[in-house]
Amino acid sequence: MRALTWHGKRDVRIDEVPDPKIEQPTDALVRITTTAICGSDLHLYEVMGPFINEGDVLGHEPMGVVEEVGSEVTELSPGDRVVIPFQISCGQCFMCGQGLQTQCETTQVREEGMGAALFGYTRLYGEVPGGQAQFLRVPQAQYTHIKVPEGPSDERFVYLSDVLPTAWQAVEYADIPEGGSVAVLGLGPIGDMAARIALHRGHRVFGVDLVPQRLERVRARGAEVLDLKEHDDDLAEVIRDRTDGRGPDSVIDAVGMEAHGSLGAQVAQQMTGLLPDAVAEKLMGKAGIDRLHAFHLAIEIVRRGGTISLVGVYGGMADPLPMLTIFDKQIQLRMGQANVKRWADEIMPLLTDGDPLGVEGFATHRLPLEEAPRGYEMFQKKEDGAVKVLLQP
Ligand SMILES: NC(=O)c1ccc[n+]([C@@H]2O[C@H](COP(=O)([O-])OP(=O)(O)OC[C@H]3O[C@@H](n4cnc5c(N)ncnc54)[C@H](O)[C@@H]3O)[C@@H](O)[C@H]2O)c1
Ligand SMILES: [Zn+2]
Ligand SMILES: [Zn+2]
Repeated sequence: MRALTWHGKRDVRIDEVPDPKIEQPTDALVRITTTAICGSDLHLYEVMGPFINEGDVLGHEPMGVVEEVGSEVTELSPGDRVVIPFQISCGQCFMCGQGLQTQCETTQVREEGMGAALFGYTRLYGEVPGGQAQFLRVPQAQYTHIKVPEGPSDERFVYLSDVLPTAWQAVEYADIPEGGSVAVLGLGPIGDMAARIALHRGHRVFGVDLVPQRLERVRARGAEVLDLKEHDDDLAEVIRDRTDGRGPDSVIDAVGMEAHGSLGAQVAQQMTGLLPDAVAEKLMGKAGIDRLHAFHLAIEIVRRGGTISLVGVYGGMADPLPMLTIFDKQIQLRMGQANVKRWADEIMPLLTDGDPLGVEGFATHRLPLEEAPRGYEMFQKKEDGAVKVLLQP
């Protein structure tokens, strides 16, 4: 089959790879109809090289049609239309029972000391072949799927794999009081959708980014937007002025480890790109390689006693944090990968009764899978107004 494979920093290609097949009785085989590129894939594209092997198939936002099921997958039949969550979870263990599917005890990658296995997301997460491909083997398929109705287009449902539950959890974890305010840092797909969800719930939303098209999309939905380039020095002050001098109740950091604006860490990240993998891997395991600009902003902006919801992915092991400020401001801090299955049922009505979040017009680009490398490049460089790129195998 054809699949998008990783070859090196900023080098992904469409290759011919062996067709996946059922290996375990709990597997299913899905023919992919739509699959997306995520901001998390950009970390693989840019800085996570030491943890990826050449030829690994990427992608974790797929949907399609069930082709074949293993003998223990009684919940699915060939022909079912499904979205596949980005994490693999069993539905039966203690963690899944708590709604913490990202910590699933059946699929945890214990050798690496990490949580649940993810599709197409490095050795750290099990090196499971991903879904930017014509076919996908889905382990733990009895639970690792979301059935969706026939009829509406793929664009209605594909974001259930990641963007919607992630943005939903970001807003839940932000714990915004009724009628309260939230600042969303980073208006890529995740921050954009989080802003839409917070607006839908009646909150006041401040959106911050430095890409004009991304600011405009979120402004058009009803948020007050601020261009970081114009407010490099006074962002916190401006938002404070508009919130009775206190700052917003909550801040969502939807940027993560490659934030613009932190020079030292940028150098560290570039170094990991130049070092041999084994050395770079050690450095990333021991050092603070994250560009923490957005997280520092969040700490500065949030009101005293408010909540920061970290949804952007960070990856260093020794990043220095302003503990004095975090402690003195009594900041609540919540974070993690989104527990997809935990939120799917709550989100579904917003996709089937009208389209209040605007998922139908959310994608900016639809490309054939063969053009995925170009999709990565334009998404990373934010060219041609790219915000969300969908791929059709
Ligand atoms: N927790 C999860 O389960 C989960 C799931 C999906 C994605 N993510 C993470 O969420 C983050 C965003 O993902 P995305 O798909 O929206 O990607 P993205 O890269 O398109 O979005 C990041 C946005 O942040 C902006 N930005 C950069 N530096 C900034 C700064 N200092 N202040 C404000 N904005 C800044 C960029 O211009 C960009 O628009 C990534 O780190 C991704 O890995 C987490
Ligand atoms: Zn994703
Ligand atoms: Zn489990």
